[in-house]
Amino acid sequence: MNKLLLSIMSLAMSALPAAAQSRINDEAVQRARQIVSKMTLEEKCRLIHGDESRETPDCDGFHILGNERLGIPAVRMADGPQGVRNNTHSTYYPCGISLAASWNRDVATGVGTGIGYDARSRGVGIMLCPGVNIYRTALNGRNFEYYGEDPYLASETAVNYIKGIQSRGVMATIKHFAFNNQEYDRHSVSSNVDERTANEIYFPTFRKAVEQADVACVMTSYNPVNGTHAAENPWLIDGNLRSWGFRGIVMSDWTSTYSTIDCVTGGVDLEMPRDYVMNYELVKPLVDNGVLDEAVLDRKCVNILSTLCAYGFLDNPMQDPDIPEDYELSRQYALAAALEGPVMLKNEKLLPLKPFSKGKDIVVLGPNADIVPFGGGSGKMSPIEGRNISLYRGLSELGKGYKTTLMDWKNPDWTRLGKATAVVLAVGFNHDTEGENFDRSYALPEGQDELIRRVAATNPNTVVVVYSGGEVDVTGWLDKVPALIMAWYPGQEGGTAMASILSGKTSPSGRLPFTFWGSLEKNPAYANYYVNKDKAEYANEKRFWKYPFVEYREGIFVGYRGVEHFGVQPLFPFGYGLGYSQFEYKDIVVAEGLDGFSVTFTLKNKSLVKASEVAQLYVAPVDSKVLKPARELKEYAKLYIEPLKSQTITLHLPKSCFSHYDTATSSWVVDPGKYMIQVGASSLDIRLEASVTVK
Ligand code: BGC
Repeated sequence: MNKLLLSIMSLAMSALPAAAQSRINDEAVQRARQIVSKMTLEEKCRLIHGDESRETPDCDGFHILGNERLGIPAVRMADGPQGVRNNTHSTYYPCGISLAASWNRDVATGVGTGIGYDARSRGVGIMLCPGVNIYRTALNGRNFEYYGEDPYLASETAVNYIKGIQSRGVMATIKHFAFNNQEYDRHSVSSNVDERTANEIYFPTFRKAVEQADVACVMTSYNPVNGTHAAENPWLIDGNLRSWGFRGIVMSDWTSTYSTIDCVTGGVDLEMPRDYVMNYELVKPLVDNGVLDEAVLDRKCVNILSTLCAYGFLDNPMQDPDIPEDYELSRQYALAAALEGPVMLKNEKLLPLKPFSKGKDIVVLGPNADIVPFGGGSGKMSPIEGRNISLYRGLSELGKGYKTTLMDWKNPDWTRLGKATAVVLAVGFNHDTEGENFDRSYALPEGQDELIRRVAATNPNTVVVVYSGGEVDVTGWLDKVPALIMAWYPGQEGGTAMASILSGKTSPSGRLPFTFWGSLEKNPAYANYYVNKDKAEYANEKRFWKYPFVEYREGIFVGYRGVEHFGVQPLFPFGYGLGYSQFEYKDIVVAEGLDGFSVTFTLKNKSLVKASEVAQLYVAPVDSKVLKPARELKEYAKLYIEPLKSQTITLHLPKSCFSHYDTATSSWVVDPGKYMIQVGASSLDIRLEASVTVK
């Protein structure tokens, strides 16, 4: 990331409150209480839901409703997470999986900050992002919005993204709480998860967003959790979320509420997009009959108003007219992120592409060659006119001796394709084939495998660029192509960024934020993923239980944590990715301190190419008494190193890195004993090791 961006960012970040002190301080709560004391029951009921009647502009299903009598303004919301959506065109940033794949906290902060500016310029007070549900299998239609399979990487990405948004005085909403790890039948399939797995794998990102980023809002998920819908689930909301110190607004996902009493007492403060169950007509009799204590409603109103107060929304306009809607800084953040997300999985001496010679050119083709693909649903953006740069446009703007030709992929000129210097084949999914409310196929959409095989057979210098939210089936063609890059959904600057990577101006520095198994069946979650169930079994569950359910039987052994435990070898491990340079790892020194260990080591860029490396720090228990994964990611650093230069870095491992969640005491417990500290270029490419004893 360039120096100008970094310095602007650190200015923005210096305004942030320390994590432990919530913006929603006692003063804000006090003021909220005073307002609530003046509210009628009807007014209280009107504050705790949206309205999509469209009678006034605020009744569009994307507002907290205002109250003129009490001086409460309506507060506008917008999706998320790739930019500001809903009735606007806006800067379109790389998707979540791309941010996680960058393994760069500054990238996440930058995108969050850009979104914060874009929101402010439009008067949006609440952004409905980030989405942080853990990647269990490639099939979940919304993986592209999320941050991969590892809770530590996901947390770091989320915390920085949220800090970025909130640094601009805009609220972030972390979603979908919790266990919304599939889109298939998402309203009725209960995610059944044990307590240790919940705390070690699925809760940490939400928890750190509360504890470290002071996130303002949390959105519950559609699915039931252990048999009770998330928006009506006291175990989830009061038992966990509020116990982590969350003081902000809990809102339901759009249309995920079912019963008035369960919803009112279950913990949700704000029902969206309208008053299906939390309305005056249904709530009043419960209060009148003494079934419901009005104080329960007061608490919801206080949560909402104290959060609005903490962000200054009760006193100041949310819109900042000095920020342009098409902001140069936002575009720079989008580009900086797009340059670091793509992951190069294979390169047999084809990349970087050389400029054309002797009349030869680079041919670009494929369904995603001349569009900017994106995932579908509420994460789908409306970009600003003229700002979207396709892969073809990016390559054709390279200049410097590069000549690029776009070819019709449905009707390729095979003779010409035989003659090109190289072929860039852009395949993958888009908003029709991968998105919200449905799970996607593992295979690339119809016809694409065959296209890849034919193109590669015609021109062996073919690089395949895949646009998707996760792993795809590569078995039919991987051995036939010399190069493969995962581009995710890279946003409006994706074409420029990919051209920079393909031409060698930028060395690819993304690393896999999930395990690329190479087969759907190898994934430890495969047998426990709903769609694989036999139809009769599914129907039976629906009949005998209130809800059909999916049991997270792989437990804590999600993704790379399952490699050794289940004895399965992935095609490309978690953390893997190639660049145009090689790095040497050396000189590990581990020192014990008051709270844990500091780990110092040196990276050397052995090549003549400037590049970044992601050094990953895993903790591996030796003879642990508690059942644990072979190793777990506990720290990482992305270092940009000039050719032939070295850099020494120290990473800190607090004692909490050696703990597990103990269900007997419902707390995190440090496990004394011997551990290996492993530093590597991926979860299966450990370059340095040192042993430590935790007392
Ligand atoms: C999605 C949420 C989104 C909401 C509002 C729902 O369908 O699950 O992620 O924020 O719609 O668009």
